[in-house]
Amino acid sequence: MAKLTFLGHACFLLEDSVGETLLFDPFLSGNPVAAAEPGDIKTGYILVSHGHGDHLGNAYDIAAQNDALIISTAEIAEAARQKGCRAHALHVGGSHRFPFGSVKAVLALHGSGIPGGHACGFVVDYGGKKIYFAGDTGLFGDMKLIGELHALDLALLPIGDNFTMGIDDAVVAASFLKARQVIPYHYNTWPLIEADPQLFKEKVERQTESKCIILPPGESHTF
Ligand code: NI
Ligand code: MN
Repeated sequence: MAKLTFLGHACFLLEDSVGETLLFDPFLSGNPVAAAEPGDIKTGYILVSHGHGDHLGNAYDIAAQNDALIISTAEIAEAARQKGCRAHALHVGGSHRFPFGSVKAVLALHGSGIPGGHACGFVVDYGGKKIYFAGDTGLFGDMKLIGELHALDLALLPIGDNFTMGIDDAVVAASFLKARQVIPYHYNTWPLIEADPQLFKEKVERQTESKCIILPPGESHTF
């Protein structure tokens, strides 16, 4: 069993009883809905989808205190090395094996937040469980391909609109991805990205085969 804990905004912690722990987009300091303090995080890996402050967040500090490996696209991995962190550079379409499984960087339609860089999403094989973390992205048709290539157990999708997909586009994304379960994020952190996760859940479960799980910050889902 794997356990996914939502730490608020776009930050998730993925762990199981025996394996390695993965942290996604660790924006905690200054995050009004953060469910953890950066100093309390224990993780071996930090996946960073792009360099915007609400995703890169506390990555360098948490990496330093855990001697964790930052996994991101090339320019962000290089910036992390410049800060003294260990980093593994992937790029869009490429995957790499790690002790827990594998990580593939996939397309995200979004800015990188760093000169010359790219934003990405991740498809993670975590001890056989397949998880798609979309990062910040608009809807794109190749999400269909991600769904065809990977039998996803879980798809994590932004629904807050303005900077990313809103609810209706995220429902289309869920229909493309065909994950067993979907979890929304990147909403209700600030008034600008207010969205009703119950409405998303209703639409996903009416219009797709996926089940939707709403995780309030601090809560976990085992799968
Ligand atoms: Ni962003
Ligand atoms: Mn964002």
